[in-house]
Amino acid sequence: MKYQAIAIDGPAGSGKSTVAKIIAKNLGFTYIDTGAMYRAITLKALNLKIKDLADEANYDFIKSTTLDFVDSKMTMDGIDVSKEIRTEEIVKNVSLVSSLKYVRVELVELQRQMAKRANVVMDGRDIGTNVLTDADLKIFLTATVDVRAERRYLEQKEKGISDMTFEEVKADLIRRDTYDSTRKHNPLRKAEDAIELDTSGLSIEEVVNKITHLFKELKHE
Ligand code: DC
Repeated sequence: MKYQAIAIDGPAGSGKSTVAKIIAKNLGFTYIDTGAMYRAITLKALNLKIKDLADEANYDFIKSTTLDFVDSKMTMDGIDVSKEIRTEEIVKNVSLVSSLKYVRVELVELQRQMAKRANVVMDGRDIGTNVLTDADLKIFLTATVDVRAERRYLEQKEKGISDMTFEEVKADLIRRDTYDSTRKHNPLRKAEDAIELDTSGLSIEEVVNKITHLFKELKHE
């Protein structure tokens, strides 16, 4: 049986994970947050006190690491790390770690395996262009940098995970966007067959409804 897949890509703060989670729940699909997987590997590299994070040879540990989603929560080696992967220290290092070819090859393989076992809504930067090129529906979410920074800022404040100011959050977002979209391996890019949605003036519910409608239209439901 071929499972169904919805791929949602876009820059940080475009609303990917919020809407992907709701759509997955509504459709009874598994939600796969690939950004959380790159964050978890960054966390493990830091915990292992790897000195040179830019050296691919230091990432052999990925092969013996178990990454999974339990109730939409990121678990690593059986432990819920969903809170720990949201800290400032992870944010600072995750672009570098996720730009390494070896890290990407290993995690992309794992993401494809996950999509072979269940219907998925998968979000990230390269899902439509690389991980699931034959996804049933590909969405590319965008929003202005100020809207995205505002969302991240409020989210971090609400969760109490960082005391960065709005300006710091915005600067960090711009830094990561530039890094993610100009890196050599699988940069952030809209797939040719992806549908672009600007979420700047839209509520979460409106974005969820639009994507769900597109998916049902596709399935002639
Ligand atoms: O979506 P996020 O902020 O949790 O992603 C964390 C980092 O991981 C982000 O800076 C880019 C990287 N990433 C990636 O390179 N490829 C993906 N498919 C998902 C995330």
